[in-house]
Amino acid sequence: MKVIILENYDEVSREAARIIARQVLRKPASVLGLATGSTPEGTYANLARMCDEGLISFQEVVSYNLDEYVGLKPEHEQSYSYFMKQKLFDHIDIRPENTHLLSGIAEDVQRECDAYEMAIDRSGGIDLQLLGIGGNGHIAFNEPSDAFAPSTHRVKLDERTCADNARFFDRVEDVPSHALSMGIGSIMRARSILLLATGKNKAEAIRNTVQGPVTPQVPASVLQLHPDVTLLIDAEAASLLLAQTEAESNA
Ligand code: F6R
Repeated sequence: MKVIILENYDEVSREAARIIARQVLRKPASVLGLATGSTPEGTYANLARMCDEGLISFQEVVSYNLDEYVGLKPEHEQSYSYFMKQKLFDHIDIRPENTHLLSGIAEDVQRECDAYEMAIDRSGGIDLQLLGIGGNGHIAFNEPSDAFAPSTHRVKLDERTCADNARFFDRVEDVPSHALSMGIGSIMRARSILLLATGKNKAEAIRNTVQGPVTPQVPASVLQLHPDVTLLIDAEAASLLLAQTEAESNA
């Protein structure tokens, strides 16, 4: 696990965009795993700018998003489908038919999840998976639990996740209680993984991810087992990590 500590959100966003751009330049038909939430917004803005400047093209890129709220139509302003169009897809030259998101309104949930896994396989697997991290250590919507989920599935969102995401909704009760999410297994099958974290409220999750035991109670800790993971974090998200490292080196 490679941990890169940068000064702030803007630096993390710029570096993340550079890493994704390098992937796309090396392999124009890359399969990208994409995340939503506040964290990747800056990265997407940088990618949109690079695309606009003609530095990179997404014409051959295929994308799969990590998750979607159950019950929200793609046109809903808080759906992840809507978020991706607003923040990235409408600003780059990716082909709409090459972008994939789980449907939050699928009637047959199991079928939707199985079809998603099969589609990723048919695309050749994910080359680079972008991740954020929840304050509770979740990746995608794999919440702390007793076992790692092997594949795409329906999840009940944690109280903390609903509270964290309430900022996007009028009221906390409006946050959907469930989501469809790629599993830990789906994420671990990606050839490389880039996790972004910024801000103090991610510090504990980052410490547990990097320095804690591998446990489904901290879903992101599983990344310790992946052969090609980069964590791009800012000084605040790294603050407890550094504290522990300093304490160790002073011992
Ligand atoms: C979103 C996702 C989530 C977020 C996480 C952090 O697709 O999978 O795991 O990455 O909840 O969200 P932000 O970036 O809003 O702090």
